Amino acid sequence: MAKDKNIVLMGFMGTGKSTVGEIVAARLGRPFVDFDTRIVEVSGKSIAEIFAENGEEGFRRWEGRISCASACTEGQVLATGGGIVLDPENVRALSRSGILICLEASIESIVERVSKDGGRPLLNTKDRWQRIRDLLEERRPLYEALPYHINTEGMSSEAVADRVIEISSSQAE
Ligand code: S3P
Repeated sequence: MAKDKNIVLMGFMGTGKSTVGEIVAARLGRPFVDFDTRIVEVSGKSIAEIFAENGEEGFRRWEGRISCASACTEGQVLATGGGIVLDPENVRALSRSGILICLEASIESIVERVSKDGGRPLLNTKDRWQRIRDLLEERRPLYEALPYHINTEGMSSEAVADRVIEISSSQAE
């Protein structure tokens, strides 16, 4: 596998990007960057605080900065936030830096996973199920345009990580 290419995980909230990214990074001995974690470190605020103080727009600005900075470094495993695809400039920059892989899951699995933590301001609504359905529908073409997809349904995080490594290796030759 080309050492220098980043492995960039994308996909909707609750598809396992952070868990899988961490496993892939550990297996390949690469640095791991989780975008939300990095935003919290750099801004000194929680994601909820950023949304509350500066709105979604303010959060997207942070996301853009982290994308841009991450795309300048090679050899990493990156777990992006679900909304990274909303700005085509993020997708362009990250795709120049490595291989983009989109993780997918059923709406049932997404709802189950995101209900375990309340740190996602976009889902703070009464009808979370409908909100997820609407966001998925809105973003579907953006996710579909990504070059690689893994349907994670029924797979363990380890098995998804195997598949990520397989795809990345096949691309690097
Ligand atoms: C978001 C996804 C979240 C986080 C923020 C917004 C989105 O990340 O960046 O709450 O717009 O889909 P995860 O995909 O890691 O949950």
